[in-house]
Amino acid sequence: MTHDSKLREQAYEAVKNHHGDIRNDPYYPSYHLAPPVGLLNDPNGWIQWKGKYHLFFQWMPFHTGHGAKFWGHYSTTNLVDWSLEPIALTPSDWFDKNGCYSGSAVDDDGLLKLFYTGNVKDESGQRESYQCLAESADGVTFSKKGVKLELPEGYTPHFRDPKVWFHNGLWYMVIGAQTEDEVGSVALFESEDLESWTHRGMIAKADRPPFSDLGYMWECPDLFELDGQEVLLFSPQGLEADRIDFNNQYQSGYVVGRLDYEKAELSHDPFVELDRGFEFYAPQTTMDDLGRRILIGWMGVPDQNEAEQPTVKNGWIHQMTLPRELVLIDGRIHQLPLEEMKNLRASKSFSEDVKGEWSGSISRVSELQLEGEVEEVQLFDYTTLRYDRQTSLLTMERPSYVDGSLETRSCRLPKGLRHLQLFIDHSSLEVFVNNGEEVFTSRIFAKEDNRSLQVKGELNVQAWNLKNDTIDITSQGW
Ligand code: FRU
Repeated sequence: MTHDSKLREQAYEAVKNHHGDIRNDPYYPSYHLAPPVGLLNDPNGWIQWKGKYHLFFQWMPFHTGHGAKFWGHYSTTNLVDWSLEPIALTPSDWFDKNGCYSGSAVDDDGLLKLFYTGNVKDESGQRESYQCLAESADGVTFSKKGVKLELPEGYTPHFRDPKVWFHNGLWYMVIGAQTEDEVGSVALFESEDLESWTHRGMIAKADRPPFSDLGYMWECPDLFELDGQEVLLFSPQGLEADRIDFNNQYQSGYVVGRLDYEKAELSHDPFVELDRGFEFYAPQTTMDDLGRRILIGWMGVPDQNEAEQPTVKNGWIHQMTLPRELVLIDGRIHQLPLEEMKNLRASKSFSEDVKGEWSGSISRVSELQLEGEVEEVQLFDYTTLRYDRQTSLLTMERPSYVDGSLETRSCRLPKGLRHLQLFIDHSSLEVFVNNGEEVFTSRIFAKEDNRSLQVKGELNVQAWNLKNDTIDITSQGW
């Protein structure tokens, strides 16, 4: 038995033995992607390929901590009904033995190619990182093609998460990096054939204007065109909280600018945080056949009290966000739930005109829309969204799952609050504000039988029950 097949076998055993119990956890999502067992982190290899959407994910099947990651694999044709596919990559080779870390997917002449980082710890515990390739003709079985890029000079081995794209006849790759002086940065590479890569330069760096100190490491870069401009998305580590900004352990955000491919230079605006909630990190985008730029993020943050999340005792942790369409309005990214998310609706549960205060109850698998003058929304006697017209701050509040103390996240809405759209899935909440002007993504660990909804203001509130059974994990016979 090869090391690869042994690892697969062990992972499948873990799913077989534990998925049933995990599925019975009242916190396990109904329509969001989560690990069949163990820990899920970054979305990887997000692509629509031969008509089917594929989302791979960082996966630790054996426990709820990080470690030697696998690439798990889900697929969908309609962005609502997903199936678990066979494991795409296992950490079975010398160049990825401590983890098949994050990366991306491209179509190359009918082959689905995955670029990922092989994470290696040598005997003395020193990190090594290799950028590796795997390919598939059927989108199900992948064969590794080995290391395509080694560490160039000037960077530490914190050098990972290749995102590859095609532009004007050439392939490009951005990599999240740390320079030898421990400054976060993004490196750009170029290739004619996806085999040999040339380092073109460092297109952005944490101590280069307009930044002065934007962190010691940048993870998961993604570079794409949106509305005729380039967007560089990345997840910097090492930012200090600054009033309502940067309150999570690590951030995710973007700059908008222009990439000069000839000079390998990106001129760009300041950094903007992409999400205002408690749990959001390492998002990745792809462009689908309809020309939409679609983002999926990880609903978690590394090193942010992960071991204390309430689902850990049940053998799983973390989930993905919904897929969201990105649009650029006045230089800022807006994120909208995809049109297809309407197909999640199973039934309308109510529509109410509220003047003053109103309370009702809703399903733990639901969508809510509030339109008008919203002052406050409280869900499950657990989390509150409150809008203060004086300061134009919208604030989300919840009790910490570590010690129960109240914690908040806020955003400023210079033009006021007109609309809220909430997606609730047992223990998660995504709040789209003013049609995607801002988004709050958070886990909510309310008491599992609580269905309470309280609303204040002068508004209309509508709710839908959403489908319960859109993720098929048994598609592999488990
Ligand atoms: C981001 C990250 C990536 C890395 C992966 C490992 O969450 O740290 O930089 O490739 O997770 O699982």
